[in-house]
Amino acid sequence: MNNAPIVQETGIAGLLLVHLPVHEDARGWFKENWQRAKMVAAGLPDFRPVQNNVSFNRLAGTTRGIHAEPWDKYVAVIGGSVFGAWVDLRAGEGFGKSFSATLGPGQAVFVPRGVGNGFQTLEPDTGYSYLVTEHWSEKARSGYTFLNLADPSAGIPWPIPLAKATVSEADRTHPMLDALTPVGPRKTMVLGANGQLGRALAALAPADGSYEFATRGQMDITDARQLAALDLSGYRAVINAAAYTQVDEAETPAGRRASWAANVTAVGQLAVACTQHGTTLVHLSSDYVFDGRKPSYTEFDAPCPLGVYGQTKAAGDAVVAQAPRHYLVRTSWVVGDGKNFVSTMTRLARAGVDPSVIDDQFGRLCFARDLAAGILHLLDSQAPYGTYNLTNEGETVSWARIAAEVFAALGHDPGRITATSTDGYRAAHPAMAPRPVHSTLELSKIKATGFIPPDQFEALAGYLAAYLPEA
Ligand SMILES: NC(=O)c1ccc[n+]([C@@H]2O[C@H](COP(=O)([O-])OP(=O)(O)OC[C@H]3O[C@@H](n4cnc5c(N)ncnc54)[C@H](OP(=O)(O)O)[C@@H]3O)[C@@H](O)[C@H]2O)c1
Repeated sequence: MNNAPIVQETGIAGLLLVHLPVHEDARGWFKENWQRAKMVAAGLPDFRPVQNNVSFNRLAGTTRGIHAEPWDKYVAVIGGSVFGAWVDLRAGEGFGKSFSATLGPGQAVFVPRGVGNGFQTLEPDTGYSYLVTEHWSEKARSGYTFLNLADPSAGIPWPIPLAKATVSEADRTHPMLDALTPVGPRKTMVLGANGQLGRALAALAPADGSYEFATRGQMDITDARQLAALDLSGYRAVINAAAYTQVDEAETPAGRRASWAANVTAVGQLAVACTQHGTTLVHLSSDYVFDGRKPSYTEFDAPCPLGVYGQTKAAGDAVVAQAPRHYLVRTSWVVGDGKNFVSTMTRLARAGVDPSVIDDQFGRLCFARDLAAGILHLLDSQAPYGTYNLTNEGETVSWARIAAEVFAALGHDPGRITATSTDGYRAAHPAMAPRPVHSTLELSKIKATGFIPPDQFEALAGYLAAYLPEA
């Protein structure tokens, strides 16, 4: 006997009708009402319910709705039959679209957050169960949106006229569609909003209120109590752009402590919070998790960090990889709105300083704007979860070559730059932490998702024009 559910589209984005195999004999019937592996294989989202409710209705004609809830929901009949009606109450093109179907034990419906549900029992003693992805709470009540059962534009063909139906007083008085505020998108929280990546995300993310930004002053991720108070109910994603990024200071006793606190302990707490709420965690990894002995690295290469910063990043990566919904975005040599190699070279060029620059460490730049664009792409395209390398495209180059490009682009003589070896530089800067010789990250995996990172030197020209106009 075929035991696989069949998933059917409904015309409302994300609302799915599921046909369930029901096994009947003289005693009654049996069905696998929810079987995650089979449902996901059949085309349902990887739904992780935390609460199961059952509604039992004595009379035929009992009518409830139309309620759009702040979570995803899977509804299935456990006895009798119901007429179900759904109206898309989410902001966007689909707003107001409706769909209806009769559900018996052989049908179930996956209802995404923001789609309104209405149910009318067609037989006495009808029960239906629903699995939901958030715990119900008083606070959740404010996340509901209600539509009148008799809304003329939705035009639901209730089999039992509403005048003869059993309907609660509250459900009789809900507003019509034209008086409704559509349900907004689920929110994304950006932590470390004042860093290079945080600022780039703020510049690029849609300004429709769906992105929230917290600086270290607003949310210190090393403060366990603050992090524990972060309520992720209804959040689609957390982008953790916060990190301890002072590579050399991380080698000091105080820096080591701070680096572990921000890059590991806090990340573990975030991963647990995201797991509990079904929230996607986007976290940033670094080329410094590698020892740099290979000319380039894929997502499959095992970490082998040289210094404390890299060790803490590698430990954070291992923690993030345990979250069921995660994007671990590994990048290198980030250049954005903040202190970075390009801004330093610009300052030195303009100040008339002739720098010594290392020419035996190799990698590729990643402009924070392109890093932010790649992260938004992963989230919006719902790319498969996992680790992704993400930098700009182009040839592998040394720091000295990049310095020369910056000087030349700004109209200064690249001949003012003296190339030096890592050992030579360390002799003059003994506190320099160990750094990988090779930092190039292979980009084929992110490109296969449809994101094509721009060339690093084209991006450099745009960066210099946008961020660093001559004083
Ligand atoms: N920069 C690079 O070359 C590079 C290379 C590879 C990977 N990465 C990774 O990419 C990510 C973003 O880097 P970035 O260049 O944007 O770094 P960044 O400019 O140094 O920004 C890091 C941000 O994190 C904040 N922060 C530090 N400790 C915090 C805490 N306890 N709670 C909350 N916020 C805290 C900082 O706050 P303040 O503004 O108050 O200091 C800063 O705004 C990091 O994970 C980093 O490890 C960077």
